[in-house]
Amino acid sequence: MSDFTLRSLPASVRLGLVCLCLVVLVGLGASATHLLWHYEKRDERAGFSYDDIAGAYHGVSTVAPLRRALERGHPETLAKPQRDALLDWLLGKADSAGKRPGVNPRVSDEYDNPDLGDMAPAEIMSRSCAECHARANAAKSPIARTYPLDTWDDIRSISISRDVKPTDPKKLVISIHAHALSLGCLSLVLSFMLWWTRWPRGVVGGAIFLASLGLLVDFACQILARQSAPLVAGIIVGGTVYSGMSVLTVLAVIADLLLPRPRGA
Ligand code: HEC
Repeated sequence: MSDFTLRSLPASVRLGLVCLCLVVLVGLGASATHLLWHYEKRDERAGFSYDDIAGAYHGVSTVAPLRRALERGHPETLAKPQRDALLDWLLGKADSAGKRPGVNPRVSDEYDNPDLGDMAPAEIMSRSCAECHARANAAKSPIARTYPLDTWDDIRSISISRDVKPTDPKKLVISIHAHALSLGCLSLVLSFMLWWTRWPRGVVGGAIFLASLGLLVDFACQILARQSAPLVAGIIVGGTVYSGMSVLTVLAVIADLLLPRPRGA
């Protein structure tokens, strides 16, 4: 068994194995695409980011910068009626106890509602914030670069508080039971195939160990990240190492199957 090599198999079997390796590559490509499409919007913002994965496995909650600023009394120059008008707009009207619902579903419609006249949020902000936050004033007020407040797009990006709940544990178990078994088996097969190639033993051993460790870390962190946010990084690092090593393994196996028999074998 220790002398067995993939290259010693008959041509028909080797070509069959090349086809299967290509199928695995297609599968890995589809997984990566699925990952992007499935998680892209998880953090309620466009584009794939760390928060998408963090949202799915741990949850993400952030307070809108605009709310934080207004509630901490920023800017000091803003009079109370204007501050209250902005908070009412952002978080919904306060009840008799002064408590606001937390979200106003009509936040974009009411931003420059003409019926509100001088008290429309757009009017208040162009009067009270532009001095420091308008792009045109960025030369004397550096904060205008980090938090420019000129357009509705600027304002919207600092108006949204997020509370993304992690995936339901039942769904996580469904996903893990399918993926851990299938990827585990796939990697068992790939490990043996790589071992039966001509490539240097040290490199092959290292590659098998790295890919397997990556996969274990990925799954362990998927389970544990619920409790501990930093472990989200383990999902990403483990998953990336695993997928990268798997692609390299498949390519190395295909090369070995197709290249002429090594000398001396
Ligand atoms: C006198 C200049 C000035 C004015 C006027 C001003 N800001 Fe700021 N703003 C700053 C500075 C400087 C910071 C950086 C943090 C700090 O030093 O408070 C900041 C930070 C912020 C932040 C970042 C989050 C935070 O809490 O630090 C937001 C959001 C913000 N301002 C919104 C507003 C809004 C809305 C208005 C108008 C209602 C406004 N600012 C008016 C100077 C100003």
